Amino acid sequence: MIGLGKIGLPLAAQYAGKGLGVIGCDVLDEVVETINQGHSHIHEEEGLEQAVAAAVKGGNLRATTGTSEAVAQSDAVVVIVPLMVSPDRVTDYRNLDAATKAVGRGLKKGTLVLYETTLPVGTTRQRLGPLLEKESGLRAGSDFHLAFSPERLYAGRIFADLRKYPKIVGGIDRASTDAAVAFYKAVLDAEVWAVENTETAEFAKLAETTYRDVNIALANQLALYAATREVNVEEAFKAANSQPYSHIHRQSIGVGGHCIPVYPHFLLGDAANGELSLVRDGRETNDRMASIGVELLEDALGGLSGHKVLVLGASYREDVKELAFSTAFSIVAALRRAGAEVLIHDPLFEPRELGALEAQVIVDLDSPQAAEVDAVVIQAWHRDFRGLDWRRFKRMRAVLDGRGAVSADGVRETGATYIAIGSSRSRAGRPK
Ligand SMILES: NC(=O)c1ccc[n+]([C@@H]2O[C@H](COP(=O)([O-])OP(=O)(O)OC[C@H]3O[C@@H](n4cnc5c(N)ncnc54)[C@H](O)[C@@H]3O)[C@@H](O)[C@H]2O)c1
Repeated sequence: MIGLGKIGLPLAAQYAGKGLGVIGCDVLDEVVETINQGHSHIHEEEGLEQAVAAAVKGGNLRATTGTSEAVAQSDAVVVIVPLMVSPDRVTDYRNLDAATKAVGRGLKKGTLVLYETTLPVGTTRQRLGPLLEKESGLRAGSDFHLAFSPERLYAGRIFADLRKYPKIVGGIDRASTDAAVAFYKAVLDAEVWAVENTETAEFAKLAETTYRDVNIALANQLALYAATREVNVEEAFKAANSQPYSHIHRQSIGVGGHCIPVYPHFLLGDAANGELSLVRDGRETNDRMASIGVELLEDALGGLSGHKVLVLGASYREDVKELAFSTAFSIVAALRRAGAEVLIHDPLFEPRELGALEAQVIVDLDSPQAAEVDAVVIQAWHRDFRGLDWRRFKRMRAVLDGRGAVSADGVRETGATYIAIGSSRSRAGRPK
């Protein structure tokens, strides 16, 4: 297993649990040491600590920084290191290429190489295969098998998803597909689903995530339309989705993370002029939502200049410790542009880990600084926030519920205004 992160480590533990001897490879010494001591360096994944402890104790899992040596001892190699993306969504292959070269240097005849990292269409066959061939002196197909299988798990509930989600597999040729299917059938309980080739498997993941992005953009556009027409948008979407073909997602102040807002760009990266215009428009719509949310807050408070605004949740979504492409960045920037003094609180992070956000980090919601905020923005509604008593914020005049997470009535009971994307301005202050 190459890459022992939030996805790679649970997978390594899963395979070890199925009786395979797993060598986990990572570039970080501390990750390798922690695992070899029988511990997980990831703490948010239910069941992972126990699974790693059992696998290491049972002798089925060990970790190393020596990727090439580990590959030389393996019959199958699974690569799940991230494909990095710049802030303006340009792909940076250095990480993935480095991992691929290290794999290539250890590759022997008959090995199965599987990529699970989400990739632009064609990458496995056109970029990674040739790189493996160059480093190993072997030929993909005739000397080693090569396949792509997208990882679709949801961090935080990986072991449950592993049992449920069909595993999509596509090889560079028939023999590679067959070898990959046989491997996954041995290590997973879920259905294994072969598709025609690596390109189809790569595209399936991009289609799935882009569908979600465009769907959210549609929900956002519909919600903004509804807001000026006395519509209760929550009720309207619920009613619409009672028709089995309607799956309208939830409107929000933005889409974050290293998947949904990023993968559409893998498609747009090689799209011809005019191709995928809906995808491009959806992306732009979702990127605009943070500013729109802050404008609503500005309207409610009659301007934000000099006002203290507390952002709850820095993570890109609830209950995961991950800042990648988090909407928190655009919310903080928009609030600052509007002249607000921005505070941020996220119990999943140490204050130093939030240094990239230009906001004052509030460690304790009981602190006097927190009590004096004029408004709150719900950016990621972590489990820890449930049961939050709004009355602790003595001067609070408005809540921008960016995730549709809390009861509007609960906010209004304190005398504050409840704002959400799609809540109409004329209805915002009134009880439902
Ligand atoms: N996290 C998710 O929710 C999720 C969901 C579905 C799919 N994925 C896919 O999984 C990939 C990995 O995600 P993650 O959340 O596990 O990332 P992560 O950042 O948690 O972990 C990646 C690990 O790879 C290691 N690494 C980097 N370069 C390496 C190299 N050259 N050799 C060996 N190890 C190396 C890093 O040190 C790190 O431990 C993503 O890029 C995405 O394609 C992630």
